[in-house]
Amino acid sequence: MSEVKTIGVLTSGGDAPGMNAAIRSVVRSGLYYGFKVLGIRKGFNGLINGDIEEMTARSVGDIIQKGGTILQTARSALFKTEEGLNKAMSMAKVFGIDALVVIGGDGSYKGARDISKLGMNVVCIPGTIDNDIGCTEYTIGYDTALNTVQDAIDKIRDTAYSHERCSVLEVMGRHAGYIAVNVSISGGAEAVILPEKPFDLEKDVLKPIIEGRNRGKRNYTVIVAEGVEGKAIEIAKAITERTGIEARATILGHIQRGGSPTVQDRVMASMMGLKAVEVLKEGGRNRVIAVKNSAVVDLDLDEALAMKKALPEELISLSKILSL
Ligand code: F6P
Repeated sequence: MSEVKTIGVLTSGGDAPGMNAAIRSVVRSGLYYGFKVLGIRKGFNGLINGDIEEMTARSVGDIIQKGGTILQTARSALFKTEEGLNKAMSMAKVFGIDALVVIGGDGSYKGARDISKLGMNVVCIPGTIDNDIGCTEYTIGYDTALNTVQDAIDKIRDTAYSHERCSVLEVMGRHAGYIAVNVSISGGAEAVILPEKPFDLEKDVLKPIIEGRNRGKRNYTVIVAEGVEGKAIEIAKAITERTGIEARATILGHIQRGGSPTVQDRVMASMMGLKAVEVLKEGGRNRVIAVKNSAVVDLDLDEALAMKKALPEELISLSKILSL
């Protein structure tokens, strides 16, 4: 096993607020421990194309507060092919990259696993607003996205109250309902529709709205996770037709991916970046950085990819109990 001297860092998949804090941490921790650190632009595509440059302490100055990723990102179709992986490996040799730090979601982890099979040493850091990576309790960008959605719910509630309407908000999360269930609690929603749970329009959405009206409610909020079939527009239409309460759908979309990261995302990203570098310093191979029982740990990449996590049932029932 050759000693790591040069680390390449990249961000891949959907961007997430806090990725810059993670890049900064990898670069500065790397320099602190005597590594050379190269920044790879546009995810795995940059590795294939040699879009790579040396990072210094200054090249990551003034970025901790910025959303997005200074290295840019991509979902690389070519990297999923043998040809792409071989090109990436040859380019890594040209630049003398001994190890890759990959910041991204589970699609990026699979890419990292594929190149690790060709001999590259990889360490993955979880970066996605969806919080849907099985091996970790927390992903970078999740907290900022939750707060962005919460701010939107509060604003929409002002106008919903004035017009005595029902707001149906569609939130991101891909196939997972972590964002949806949490903001349904923090935003005091009457109902939340999750991809993890089958739902009955009558019982789970219309009934709580009508009962709420009969108890004197003056506005209503329904959260729909994007992974749900039927989506916000159809659900809003059904609410209007069946209850007589005017419903409006809002699809929050990519606003959820932007913005200055929260303190929690900046601190977690900084801790995970340092841990990734320390894992390499200690000779770790093919690891992922994760949060387990609130501590930052490292796990084997293949084992991590096989892990699943379920949406906590207690959050789903809390949301329901408090919607009265
Ligand atoms: O994984 C992050 C995410 O924002 C998901 O919540 C969403 O399903 C997807 O990416 C959207 O991807 P794109 O930016 O390619 O439209």
